[in-house]
Amino acid sequence: MLRQILKKGINPYICASQIQYHMISVDNLSLKFGKRTLFEEVNLKFTPGNCYGVIGANGAGKSTFLKILSGEMDSTSGAINITPGQRMAVLKQNHFEFDEVDVLKTVLMGHKKLYAIMKEKDDIYLKEDFSEEDGLRASELEAEFAEMDGWNAESDAASLLSGLGISEDIHYTLMKDLAGNQKVRVLLAQALFGNPDILILDEPTNDLDAETIVWLEDFLMDFKNLVIVVSHDRHFLDTVSTHVVDIDFGKVKIYSGNYTFWYESSQLALKQRSDQNKKADEKRKDLQDFIARFSANVAKSRQATARKKMLEKLNVDEIEPSSRKYPGIIFKPEREAGDQIFMTENLELKADGVTYFTDVNLMVDKGDKIAFISKTKQAVNKFFQTIVEEIKPSKGNLKWGVTINKAYLPNDNSEYFQTELNLIDWLRQFSTNQEEAYVRTFLGRMLFTGEETFKKCSVLSGGEKVRCMVSKMMLQNPNLLVMDEPTNHLDLESITAFNNAIIEFNGTVLMSSYDHAFVQSSCNRIIEFTPTGTIDRRMPYDDYLMNPEIKALREKMYGGKV
Ligand SMILES: Nc1ncnc2c1ncn2[C@@H]1O[C@H](COP(=O)(O)OP(=O)(O)OP(=O)(O)O)[C@@H](O)[C@H]1O
Ligand SMILES: [Mg+2]
Repeated sequence: MLRQILKKGINPYICASQIQYHMISVDNLSLKFGKRTLFEEVNLKFTPGNCYGVIGANGAGKSTFLKILSGEMDSTSGAINITPGQRMAVLKQNHFEFDEVDVLKTVLMGHKKLYAIMKEKDDIYLKEDFSEEDGLRASELEAEFAEMDGWNAESDAASLLSGLGISEDIHYTLMKDLAGNQKVRVLLAQALFGNPDILILDEPTNDLDAETIVWLEDFLMDFKNLVIVVSHDRHFLDTVSTHVVDIDFGKVKIYSGNYTFWYESSQLALKQRSDQNKKADEKRKDLQDFIARFSANVAKSRQATARKKMLEKLNVDEIEPSSRKYPGIIFKPEREAGDQIFMTENLELKADGVTYFTDVNLMVDKGDKIAFISKTKQAVNKFFQTIVEEIKPSKGNLKWGVTINKAYLPNDNSEYFQTELNLIDWLRQFSTNQEEAYVRTFLGRMLFTGEETFKKCSVLSGGEKVRCMVSKMMLQNPNLLVMDEPTNHLDLESITAFNNAIIEFNGTVLMSSYDHAFVQSSCNRIIEFTPTGTIDRRMPYDDYLMNPEIKALREKMYGGKV
């Protein structure tokens, strides 16, 4: 119906509200894990054409909510109603799930029914003793396959990939061999394969560089169907979302407008509530001024339409100030490092025709806070794996100082959590002091207290896993930190606490991060790996990026491809 309205050129927002066209309705939903209520009595409606940005602290229940929406998980009570015949596709928070599958197949797997038919068909043809029954089944499957336009599936998937910037030469590469930003593009192609009416994305911006985030923003702005996206990235949310879905206080609520609008209006709500003496019409005026200010700088069309209705919809009494908490991150070196920190000699990693880094002759000084960067996909990630001795270099040596006690935050932490231990026993594995009270201190600083510490670490949310890894790092009392994308999965409060901890830390840091502000505020040295060698400068990140001499050098070292 909405599509017909759109074709006729009538303002869809007015009509949509009159005919109450909702694609998804959530009725009296609640979810409990044992004694803990994640949310209850949730009543929401999602309308086509809108982009809903889902926000909430780490562990608030964002991924769980999306899993219930997509039918992957059952709620404790209540119901989700989706207009029949609407296809939903999901890009999950775990970007490592398809690591052993090649790119093209990953996309095909996005169309579950078609993929199941292909697989069953292939399994039958591989059989050595092909029975009559098998023959019948195979012809049934062939018919279904043809009906679903299966013969064009591979070429459709390939052109979708190429359209999303994944060139043909890597269509048969395994997902684990792709860089983070390429992986997200493939996972997006998987979600888009088969034209979903509802697109659900759980933290797609993790591992994305600034350039790819802009690309994703543009993509979502042009995507006309319903989008529900979780993110901790304020700028991204501001650009793409027409509505905010806030998960807090055990409730899930929708507000019109983007993230900044939600944030500013919740601040205004807080102020108005404390201004007991102001008259109602004065408050109303404040509210109108506020909305006029916001409407004035509407830039994007999706938002412009949504904002027209904001004044009617904004109910200050409904907005609650947030209950977010800051973790207490502090790294205390057990012993001061000596003069020898870390050095490399002619270190090089080449694999499958790619030079990740070459001629790395590094002398790390005490107190250095180094940001490693590269345009070569995965170069920095491979470098960190090399220096923590997880992979072997193809050439050269590396040497750690004897006084160095290093703590490592890997990009992929999944292997640490493939266990059924509870949080206390999990962290105890890494502690010499085995007392529960001692271990609890480190969990408490990362906001795990009371009953929460008895849950199994396998059920942790993405951000909670990173918080556990940070507890582990603090417990080690390191004098050197190696961190590969520390802000991935973390909520804004945790990122701020982490950022401050790195600024305050008086040891040495080797890190990489796509979070510009994090790098700019914590690092005093930049090292860039190019296919022809290394650039190493002692200066803040912004200076490095702006410096004309360095710009020219980068151009030359990448062979003109910057
Ligand atoms: N099976 C389970 N049993 C007990 N608790 C669970 C279970 N599954 C998830 N949880 C808890 O429910 C909470 C919500 O998890 P969820 O993954 O939805 O969080 P999130 O909002 O997506 O967080 P993040 O921003 O870190 O991704 C977490 O505290 C998690 O540990
Ligand atoms: Mg999550």
